[in-house]
Amino acid sequence: MQTDSTLHDDAQARGASGRLPPEIWMQDGARRVEQALARLLCAEDDGETELMAAMRYATLHGGKRTRALLCLATGALADTPAHMLDDVGAAIEMMHACTLVHDDLPAMDDDVLRRGLPTVHVKFGEATAILVGDALQAHAFLTLASLDAPGDNRIALVRELAQAVSAEGAAGGQAMDLSLVGKHVELDRIVAMHRMKSGALVRASVRMGALCAIAEDAAHAALYCALDRYSACFGLALQVVDDILDATADTATLGKTPGKDAAAQKPTCASIMGLQAARQLALDLLRDAGESIAPLGTRAERLAQMLQRANAYLFKHAPCA
Ligand code: IPE
Ligand code: IPE
Ligand code: MG
Ligand code: MG
Ligand code: MG
Repeated sequence: MQTDSTLHDDAQARGASGRLPPEIWMQDGARRVEQALARLLCAEDDGETELMAAMRYATLHGGKRTRALLCLATGALADTPAHMLDDVGAAIEMMHACTLVHDDLPAMDDDVLRRGLPTVHVKFGEATAILVGDALQAHAFLTLASLDAPGDNRIALVRELAQAVSAEGAAGGQAMDLSLVGKHVELDRIVAMHRMKSGALVRASVRMGALCAIAEDAAHAALYCALDRYSACFGLALQVVDDILDATADTATLGKTPGKDAAAQKPTCASIMGLQAARQLALDLLRDAGESIAPLGTRAERLAQMLQRANAYLFKHAPCA
């Protein structure tokens, strides 16, 4: 019988082209990252604390795993060993979950539903939810620092993830998000906010798959330039789609409470441009992302497949009116 760990080596799954179909490597990749999360977020003795239970609740119950899959896709391009990518993908998903748990807190978006379940502060209390975010962040860095990789690579990965959630990244973007409530702002302010609050972690996810194995030096400037352009477009598209779906999708589709942005008077691309223009912007960004990795050829095949996945998600959940 085929097992999870052998799936990506299976000649049958690869077919005549020798390549894995996208749905196979994505399912397999998500499963491996989830196994890594379960292993890394595990109490050392029998007595699991409520905090650890809440950390596992925040990370192991769903999510599209987009950031981990982006990391795996770049890792394939860079020939990063699979076992390393599993842990790096898990570290990224821990950090992502940290931002979600804090984003949902009463002092932030005050959300009660996430991934179809009660949010962490609803289930475990506000104090525990704050600590879950803190501890997930620490575990993400611990995971990167403990990788079986040369010191320089580990430092590059730690720096990359730290930058992504810093005052110039997600934390700064979230502060801007809160400061713009109820305000009329130009589109470029929203774009700047999106690039920080969610784009920075997407950029790091793409780059970290490569940074595991390839230094960002002059010899690899073209690679990192292409990855940066790709991730800038992908990251912005991801948040634009999230904003569209907040305004159009139902609870079952979102696993979150719909209509929160309008209720909280948050300016978004969708509220400023209108839904159709925002949808077109997302499609244009995904197309531009594809163009930016074209020079990398078939090496970037999995990054291109991630764009097809995002496109399909948009067409499925936000069909043209
Ligand atoms: C939600 O991200 C928060 C944003 C930055 C838009 P995702 O839509 O990737 O959330 P999950 O991980 O699939 O739940
Ligand atoms: C949050 O954006 C981005 C983060 C840094 C977590 P949103 O507030 O729009 O994300 P959702 O819609 O709650 O997932
Ligand atoms: Mg928010
Ligand atoms: Mg939110
Ligand atoms: Mg949202």
